[in-house]
Amino acid sequence: MVVAIDGPAGAGKSTVARAAARALGFTYLDSGAMYRAVGLMARRHGGAASERADELDIRLGDRVLVNGEDVTETIRSPEVSEAASKVATNPRVREALVQKQRELMSSGDWVAEGRDIGTVVAPDAEVKVFLTASPEERARRRAAELGTDVDMVLRDQTLRDAQDMEREHSPLTAAPGAVELDTSGLSVDDVVDRIVDLVEGARR
Ligand code: CDP
Repeated sequence: MVVAIDGPAGAGKSTVARAAARALGFTYLDSGAMYRAVGLMARRHGGAASERADELDIRLGDRVLVNGEDVTETIRSPEVSEAASKVATNPRVREALVQKQRELMSSGDWVAEGRDIGTVVAPDAEVKVFLTASPEERARRRAAELGTDVDMVLRDQTLRDAQDMEREHSPLTAAPGAVELDTSGLSVDDVVDRIVDLVEGARR
């Protein structure tokens, strides 16, 4: 089974998807980490590096490895977030990463999170969730996570939201049939319980 969790930055996707995977005994797939890995390579080696995204050896798990290098922390910086969002507009990058994601998910049970899981990567996913929260709430969460200023995070987030929603290829949007969950004011446990209920419903 595939559970697709999409939504904008800071909606709580990673925390919720990880916890839901644990609760269900499914494997967690962080598709954003792949775009971040390509973004990091583009920052280091220029745009041409992202044209060769299909040649990168990206390993996800407790640590994120790119061609054997541990980039787990490096890819979370605001600079790499911005670079990821930029390379994510490139259809060749998207094609290469979508293929890697589909290969990974071709067997077993997955909770996959990103921007286009329910729309492009796994349109047949049995459960689709679109997580949202108000921009202020999302910025507050991300600032707390990074230990930085909320206003600065809100500025970066607004830019990245616009870039993700307005891009030509696979813009961020709720998939047909996705259950929209606004996580403002909800606890992680509440959201995970809702997702587990949806999975149980889909199994019946
Ligand atoms: O954690 P956060 O939501 O801030 O970002 P992320 O999920 O790690 O994704 C980083 C960037 O990669 C996003 O801003 C998107 O531009 C891009 N992305 C995408 O285009 N498609 C995905 N399935 C996942 C991420």
